[in-house]
This record gives sequence, C-alpha cells and structure tokens, in this order.
Amino acid sequence: MPLANGKRVAIVAGVRTPFSKSGTLYRRMTAVELARSCVAELVQRSELDTSIIDGVVFGTVVPSVLAPNIAREVSLLPHFPKGVQAFSVSRACASANQAITDAADQIALGHTHVMIAGGAESLSMVPILHSARFAEALMGASRAKSLGGRIKALGQIRPRDLIPITPAIAEPSTGETMGESAEKMAKINGISREEQDEFALRSHRLAAAGTADGRLTAEMAPVWIPPKYETAATVDNGVRTDTTLEQLKALKPVFDRRYGSVTAGNSSPLTDGAAAVLLMSAERAEALGYEPLGYIRSYAYAALDPGEQLLQAPVLAAPVALQRAGLALPDIDLVEMHEAFAAQVLSNLRGFESPEWAARAGFSTPVGTVDRARLNVMGGSIALGHPFGATGARITTTLLNELHRRGGQFGLMTVCAAGGMGFAMVVERR
Ligand SMILES: CC(C)(COP(=O)(O)OP(=O)(O)OC[C@H]1O[C@@H](n2cnc3c(N)ncnc32)[C@H](O)[C@@H]1OP(=O)(O)O)[C@@H](O)C(=O)NCCC(=O)NCCS
Repeated sequence: MPLANGKRVAIVAGVRTPFSKSGTLYRRMTAVELARSCVAELVQRSELDTSIIDGVVFGTVVPSVLAPNIAREVSLLPHFPKGVQAFSVSRACASANQAITDAADQIALGHTHVMIAGGAESLSMVPILHSARFAEALMGASRAKSLGGRIKALGQIRPRDLIPITPAIAEPSTGETMGESAEKMAKINGISREEQDEFALRSHRLAAAGTADGRLTAEMAPVWIPPKYETAATVDNGVRTDTTLEQLKALKPVFDRRYGSVTAGNSSPLTDGAAAVLLMSAERAEALGYEPLGYIRSYAYAALDPGEQLLQAPVLAAPVALQRAGLALPDIDLVEMHEAFAAQVLSNLRGFESPEWAARAGFSTPVGTVDRARLNVMGGSIALGHPFGATGARITTTLLNELHRRGGQFGLMTVCAAGGMGFAMVVERR
C-alpha cells in the first residue's frame, strides 16, 4: 500500500550498535561516533553505493552543543560524497521514528529516493552546564578590556555558582520525572508491582533468548572501544540472563520510595547506542535489485497533557495508524512496544482495551487486547536498554526481521515519548 502520493516507501536494511548501559563501554564515545560507526556498517552490509544517497536524517534527544546537527556529521563520513544533505530531529524517545518518517515523507513526496535515517544517544557524555551567574562572570571577563576588569568580573563568582547543572529526565512544563510519571500511571491504571516485575523478567528472558540464538546479534555492528580499540562490544550489556522474580521483587522503589512500585529492575536503564535504517522508494529498491525488509504502510503521532499520564499517548496514536493502514489489531502479526517502564507498557495495554481511551482518540471501539505471544517477542527496552534517540530505529529493524522469520505480513510498533507524545507505525512485509 502506498504511504502517500501513490508512493511506496521500502525499508531496505537496518543495523544498530550493541546497546551499552551508560557509564560503561561507550563512556568515552560521543553520539556522533556511535552514529557514524553504525551507519558505516549499514552501508557496508547493504553494499550501497554512497553516491546514490540523497540524504541523512538522524534523531538525538540530548544533542552535543559542539555538533548539534548529528545527521550532518554522519553524512560527512569519509566514504560519503560531501553533497549528501542532512538534518537532525528531536521528538524525545520517538526521535529515530521522527527521522524515519521524515525520510519516508521526503521519498513519498518524490523529493528523494534513497535516505538513511536513525538515531543515537550518549547518556555518558551529556553536556554539563554552568550556573547563569558563573556564565555571566565568564562572559564579563571575556568582554573586559583590562586585566583589572577581568579580575573584577571573575571576582563576582561565589562557591555555589560553581555547582554544575546536569540535564534532568524531567518534564520542563511540570517538573515531573519520567519515573514519577510511571509511578503515577501505575497507580491510576491499577498496575501492581508483581505485574511490573513479571513483565521485566519476561523482557530479560526473551532478550536473552534472542541474543543466544543470534536473532538480535545479527542486527548489531560490533563497536571497537576506545582508547585502545583492542576489544569490541558485541552484545547488549544490560540483558540479565540470570535475573529472577525473587531478585526483582527485592529491589526498592526508586521514584516513590515509600509507596512506589517502579524499581531499577522494571525500568529501562540509561543507555548509550545508535541505530539506523536504509530507506528507498519501492521502485528504486527494485531497480537496484534490493529485496526490502518491508514497507511503511502508515504512521501517526499524538500528544496529551504531560501533567496527566505522560507516557500514555501511544494509546491515542495506535488506532489512528491502524485506521490509516486500513487494518485492525487482529490483522497484526507482531507488535513491538517501546518499554520505557513496565508500568507504562502495561498502562498502554490497558488503554488499548479501554472504551474511554478509544473515545478520546475519536473511535467507537477500543484497539483491543494485544496477544502477549505477539508482543515484544525478543524483549524490549527494559532488558536491551534505551538510548533515547536510537530506540525507534532498533524497534523498526527488529519488527521487520522477525516478521520475515515468522512469515508474517503486518507489524505494529508504538513508542511513548516525553512531552506526553506517542507514536505508532504499521509496517508490511510485501
Ligand atoms: C531506574 C534508575 C534510576 C536506576 O538507576 P541505577 O540505580 O543506576 O540502576 P542500576 O543498574 O545500578 O540498578 C540498581 C540496583 O538494582 C539491581 N538490578 C537492576 N535490575 C535488576 C534486575 N533485572 N535483576 C536483579 N537486579 C537488578 C542492580 O544490580 C543494582 O544493584 P546494586 O545496587 O546492588 O548494584 C535508572 O535506570 C533510570 O533513571 N531509568 C529510567 C530512565 C528513564 O527515565 N528513561 C526514560 C524513559 S522514556
């Protein structure tokens, strides 16, 4: 089915780095380095002639202030022609999805034929900011015309001005952190601690199985680790093959220590990594002899008040994407949902079953009950990790590869994002 304008958009290939808990293997690597390493491998594996690439779109959530257009740094890889245009996007945890749909739209409009899209994140290398007073004193000193003036400006600095400011995973509009929002959603939707821990255990078990049998590792490009480049990351280091329900139950709640249920075990960890896909117009893919992983059939974005249930907007986006695809949940062979927190996935699943949420999305009947046997069949962000900007591209590749293995036709993916936003996309194999 054409995405728009009579044009079909193919996803030809996808590659990601292994995901690494922040502060571990990639702690000395920038998001740009991770992105470049991933895209270089994508090009290599798909035997792509770089002279036919029309553009690169990349997403990142905490961009480097030194290289804010990460996409351009990717498109300046040594083996790319310098004329490959590139732009970067930000839609919180759905940033890679934004990159993919922007690239797809360019193809559907007929402006381009071959695009690379994805996302990257380094939460090990977040920019640390100075206080406004410290910055003011530094600016004053740099503007001063004499040594005395400089000393006077710097003399304004007080010890408390030296305390650095780190970016928080909190809503600028409400001040609520993601974890606090997940706690709130667990309470509103009646999600028990036990249910969350069981879901987290399932994520680790399925991710461990997908790693052991090579389905997940096949999607990864090993990353050589600086400074010596003697060892390489080859698997996601957050997957716990040995975790048990007892261990998960024993963990203390993090975001509401007294009455809470969200723990380090049932949350996605802070993670570094990159993921990318190669998109082409269906006719260009065919002309070049590529057999696409699949095609984008439809997508939708939605948003709600971030002060309400911050991570519930996939419930508003999914019915619209399904309607645009001309499909219903029973037609869908596999579902991939980003797991920010077990409490969020379980709240989203409850929302899909709810007539009230259906009405809010403008529908008379709910999306329905997601068959657990078709959901996140190789685990999700809780176990694999969640480099904010990259997750959407990871999910896209995994969904299409697994659909292929199972001989399925349609896949649905959802991603919740900061700002009360949600994303859903329907892909088809043939
Ligand atoms: C929840 C969070 C605060 C935990 O951070 P952390 O304390 O650094 O997490 P750790 O990995 O060190 O885990 C804490 C403890 O739980 C244990 N643990 C975590 N997961 C476990 C599991 N599945 N099984 C057993 N133990 C586990 C760890 O071993 C560790 O134990 P230790 O203290 O004895 O070493 C952090 O991961 C976070 O902020 N996550 C949410 C990210 C977010 O908001 N994302 C946005 C979503 S869109």
